[in-house]
Amino acid sequence: MTPHPPYDGPTGRRTVTAPGAERSAPGAERSAPGATAPRPPGTPHGVPPYRGALLRHPRHSAVPVPDPEAVELTGPVFGVADVTDFERDLTRQHTGEPLGERITVSGRMTDRHGRPVRGQLVEMWQANASGRYVHRRDRHAAPLDPHFTGFGRCLTDDDGTYSFTTIRPGAYPWRNHENAWRPAHLHFSLFGTAFAQRLVTQMYFPADPLLAYDPVFLSIPDEAARARLVAAYDHGLTIPEWALGYRWDIVLDGPSATLFEDGAA
Ligand SMILES: [Fe+2]
Repeated sequence: MTPHPPYDGPTGRRTVTAPGAERSAPGAERSAPGATAPRPPGTPHGVPPYRGALLRHPRHSAVPVPDPEAVELTGPVFGVADVTDFERDLTRQHTGEPLGERITVSGRMTDRHGRPVRGQLVEMWQANASGRYVHRRDRHAAPLDPHFTGFGRCLTDDDGTYSFTTIRPGAYPWRNHENAWRPAHLHFSLFGTAFAQRLVTQMYFPADPLLAYDPVFLSIPDEAARARLVAAYDHGLTIPEWALGYRWDIVLDGPSATLFEDGAA
């Protein structure tokens, strides 16, 4: 298990004080966060209103390797036996119950034809109900929860279905611009059959008013692609007397593919 779950906040915060960062993003502080930003020519991954993104995309051309498959054969791998069913429930990782609204999140991972992608490692990390990550760089003035770490993982089953039980995360400030708050979200990482195939994205919650102000979400120019990152409330997944249910399906390729952070947006 990753000792420190990845955390998206510091990148944005680090941008505020990084030498040259202000010069790299002229006008970023004044940009309207609610506006969908067109991508400047020559910077295919740079979206000025999302200041952290300026430090997160490649600045050099890809290095060709003679045999990519051979590289994957020697890269890090995980074993199916390493993932226990216990790890999908983020509310059971400590001796007590975490605070917040208990939820379940599940969906199917498929290819463009709706065929299930089986046995895939799905990792998920998130802030707690107060909008605070268990991470040394997170200085948000909100309480940590001693009963919540915010990291889980599972494998998709024969139907391509993954499932987590967790706590609905809180919004948190991230200093990207004046009064900047990230909408509630879950970070997802999907592994294929090798480390180089890792895909990373974020899932959002329906009817969140902060989506309209979030440069990360709005950095995706295609409205339909943005909508595919928003889960749906699913009463059939809601567990009586226990947890509200959300469905979020993941499509790996094709015209209705889920958008990933290294993708076209
Ligand atoms: Fe985050």
